[in-house]
Amino acid sequence: MNAGILGVGKYVPERVLTNADLEKMMDTSDEWIRTRTGIQERRIAREDEYVHDMAYEAAKAAIENAGLTPEDIDLFIVATVTQESNFPSVGNIIQDRLGAKNAAAMDLGAACAGFTYGTVTAAQFIQTGAYKNIVVIGADKLSKITDWEDRSTAVLFGDGAGAIVMGPVSDGRGLLAFDLGSDGSGGKHLNLNEKRKLYMNGREVFRFAVRQMGDASLRVLEKSGIAKDDLDLLIPHQANIRIMEASRERLELPEEKLMKTVHKYGNTSASSIVLALVDAVEEGRINDDDNLLLVGFGAGLTWGALVIKWGK
Ligand code: COA
Repeated sequence: MNAGILGVGKYVPERVLTNADLEKMMDTSDEWIRTRTGIQERRIAREDEYVHDMAYEAAKAAIENAGLTPEDIDLFIVATVTQESNFPSVGNIIQDRLGAKNAAAMDLGAACAGFTYGTVTAAQFIQTGAYKNIVVIGADKLSKITDWEDRSTAVLFGDGAGAIVMGPVSDGRGLLAFDLGSDGSGGKHLNLNEKRKLYMNGREVFRFAVRQMGDASLRVLEKSGIAKDDLDLLIPHQANIRIMEASRERLELPEEKLMKTVHKYGNTSASSIVLALVDAVEEGRINDDDNLLLVGFGAGLTWGALVIKWGK
């Protein structure tokens, strides 16, 4: 049995922080942010709203959307780097809060590529027949580790959570291929500094992202046996519109095959790709048997690319 997506759900905080709001907080401009990144606004969690709260809401919605109950879930995998504490894990907290008494739970850290890593991990359990229903969540509260004094990073990030339920699917659907990777030598370009705030060398990360997103996308396509022309939707990590456009151009895809949410959520780390996937489903942009390419990169440095044929 292959592993596919049975349901999706999301949660974004209520508070919207616009570029105009940022202009009042620091020396920046709407024009600079829009032209360099494509971001217009982002969501920011309340002080007392944590990764596990957002992950819980997204998971609950995904389980309902799949037509399942929490007791049907065998495993929760939560991709995050901004959990309140390393233990208990976010997985443990939401497993308990949902009353998912038959489920195991764990967190997984691969920064902005975390959702792709989580999806591939879940697929292994399903393909071997060990587990049936697995919830994979991408959830991050980057506002917690944003250095609000550093305008070159503070304008880029937002908070949110997205979730999928994975389970057995047939008819050639599900995860067709993946390409995961790590280049730890680039770790110095994007990390938590001594103040426990996010440090980034934007230019280096930009270079890495453009190269790896393109290379990984071409590799995973080749592994999947799907031709570029047969791709229906590219769902890249929503970090910067220029990086996303570069991936689209490497794949020679028309504009309408690129899923974009960066303008309204900014870069939400592990939630970014899954939030874009959920929005694509909600907007009716995905049909059964569509070929999707999900690709991300992030701190580590890490990357992950997946080809999924949609449908149960
Ligand atoms: N508002 C106004 N000016 C800003 C600014 C802001 N928020 N942030 C930086 N600047 C200034 C810089 O100080 C610099 O000024 P200078 O030329 O006088 O020194 C100028 O803008 C250009 O900075 P530069 O770093 O060359 O811009 P850039 O074109 O590389 O864009 C990023 C910066 C961060 C948008 C871009 O490098 C990027 O997106 N990198 C990848 C980041 C990413 O995807 N991270 C996610 C990892 S998961």
